[in-house]
Amino acid sequence: MLATRSLITSSVTDLGVETLVAPARPDKTGAGTSAPVLPVDLRVTDLAKSFSGTPIFKDVSFGLSRGEAVAIVGANGTGKSTLLRCLMGLIPADAGVIDVLGTDVRNASGAQLRSMRAKMGLVSQKHNLVPRLSVLSNVVQGLLGQKPGVRHWSQSLAPAPSRDAAMTALEKVGLAHLASRRADRLSGGQSQRVAIARALVGDPKILIADEPTASLDPAAGEDVMDLFFKLARQEGVTVIFISHNINHALQYGDRVLGLADGGMPLDARAESLSAEKLRGLYD
Ligand SMILES: Nc1ncnc2c1ncn2[C@@H]1O[C@H](COP(=O)(O)OP(=O)(O)O)[C@@H](O)[C@H]1O
Ligand SMILES: [Mg+2]
Repeated sequence: MLATRSLITSSVTDLGVETLVAPARPDKTGAGTSAPVLPVDLRVTDLAKSFSGTPIFKDVSFGLSRGEAVAIVGANGTGKSTLLRCLMGLIPADAGVIDVLGTDVRNASGAQLRSMRAKMGLVSQKHNLVPRLSVLSNVVQGLLGQKPGVRHWSQSLAPAPSRDAAMTALEKVGLAHLASRRADRLSGGQSQRVAIARALVGDPKILIADEPTASLDPAAGEDVMDLFFKLARQEGVTVIFISHNINHALQYGDRVLGLADGGMPLDARAESLSAEKLRGLYD
């Protein structure tokens, strides 16, 4: 049986927050144990989703603590992107509970969902940059969730602090020198780096990437993955990345969740898994 539930879940009722308690490890003296208590950024319980009566998945449950990077793997069509869209409240789930950053996603108002999404950064398979706008304007638009309105449509309209934040994000991805270039003049790898800057500019708590290397050649894909995770770790954000690349999942994820057979039979720490075991089931 592949499935392992590796994290111990507990409720710290006196704090009023649900937490994940890392498995206790004896300290060096052997005299006690340490169990750091981390806030839970995301918790999914018994989630189910179907399209027009066709079940995609059911009984999906997992939690994500602050700063953790989780990889969601699964063959094409198992519902990875659908799961993501449910988490962001972009499509309705059929059953279950979704809590993201304290928002009850399935019962939230439009305003509550927008405020939640403003704390999340998304990098998709395709970069979705506005082709005719400059790189800097595209990154400024990453602030639209927090600052809706015409001033964040382009860098020339944006207030100075927003433009500065966009330049800082571009510096982080090493593309400050291309700030004024039109987005449709970039290579695929550069476009994805701009998409990462756009996802980071609003200081998200959760970064989500849906097969961010799918449209890139393998070398550019490696660069983008390295950069994405370097920045995610540096900024201390919680990461969900979807991949059908088992090696990426094991290399970059702290934990790997696997969708298969209409459910999520795998939830394990990456170091406890081997590529051989996963391949075939989730590749
Ligand atoms: N809006 C939709 N309407 C109907 N079926 C959909 C819709 N979106 C996705 N599907 C179907 O749901 C299944 C899961 O899709 P998806 O989440 O994109 O899978 P993955 O990301 O794992 O490749 C697929 O069979 C897909 O065709
Ligand atoms: Mg997908």
